[in-house]
Amino acid sequence: MRVGVLGSGDVAKTLASGFLKHGHDVTMGTRTAAKLSEWKAQNPKGTVGSFADAAASDELIVLAVKGEAAADALRSAGAQNLAGKPVVDATNPIEDAPPVNGVLKFFTSLNESRMERLQAEFSGAHFVKAFNSVGNACMVNPQFKGGKPTMFICGNHEAAKKSVSKVLDQFGWETADMGGVAAARAIEPLCMLWCIPGFLRNDWTHAFKLLS
Ligand SMILES: NC(=O)c1ccc[n+]([C@@H]2O[C@H](COP(=O)([O-])OP(=O)(O)OC[C@H]3O[C@@H](n4cnc5c(N)ncnc54)[C@H](OP(=O)(O)O)[C@@H]3O)[C@@H](O)[C@H]2O)c1
Repeated sequence: MRVGVLGSGDVAKTLASGFLKHGHDVTMGTRTAAKLSEWKAQNPKGTVGSFADAAASDELIVLAVKGEAAADALRSAGAQNLAGKPVVDATNPIEDAPPVNGVLKFFTSLNESRMERLQAEFSGAHFVKAFNSVGNACMVNPQFKGGKPTMFICGNHEAAKKSVSKVLDQFGWETADMGGVAAARAIEPLCMLWCIPGFLRNDWTHAFKLLS
């Protein structure tokens, strides 16, 4: 697949390298290409361009920018470049404020998630929430003593979720599909839960698993 990764932070770089490792073509999008010069040197097969470059020619888009900037980054990418494509939303709506007793603050409410707002504004794109509830160090083929971890996903478009499930298979995850976009109200706060052991005990190496 041709994959466009919007972002230049740790999540964007980790996922972009993961896609390259699994044989996909990758274009990373940023406002400042210099931020990705080291990544580009380490990943010569990858391409670096603008948000619009990354979205334009690709079959799967990954949104991995600061939560507050998600809509701006997508506007720069261009709604027409997103239409009809799966957009993996790895972002979290974290406030610019320190955690309280290890608990992050969000700028959304439990009755309206970040991804619902994005889906409403960019109605032609097929958003799929994924990769938001685990740290970047554990995103690509993580090894846990407890076995394969579970990635909770959701979104309105079945084919888009199938594409993302295939990626998750490659990246060493089992997928738990929680339904339509409104389920992001439950999946986004998993980030808060995931971070608590980190902030309280500096333990950042874990993932969720759904048992049945
Ligand atoms: N860090 C983790 O382990 C982790 C795990 C799961 C989910 N997440 C979520 O993944 C997302 C990315 O996290 P991160 O830690 O890799 O990076 P980050 O520091 O949260 O975000 C950096 C990115 O945000 C973009 N950005 C910032 N302000 C912008 C603006 N005004 N307009 C457009 N773009 C803007 C930057 O674009 P430029 O490249 O143009 O500067 C850069 O690509 C976040 O939403 C985070 O909550 C993080």
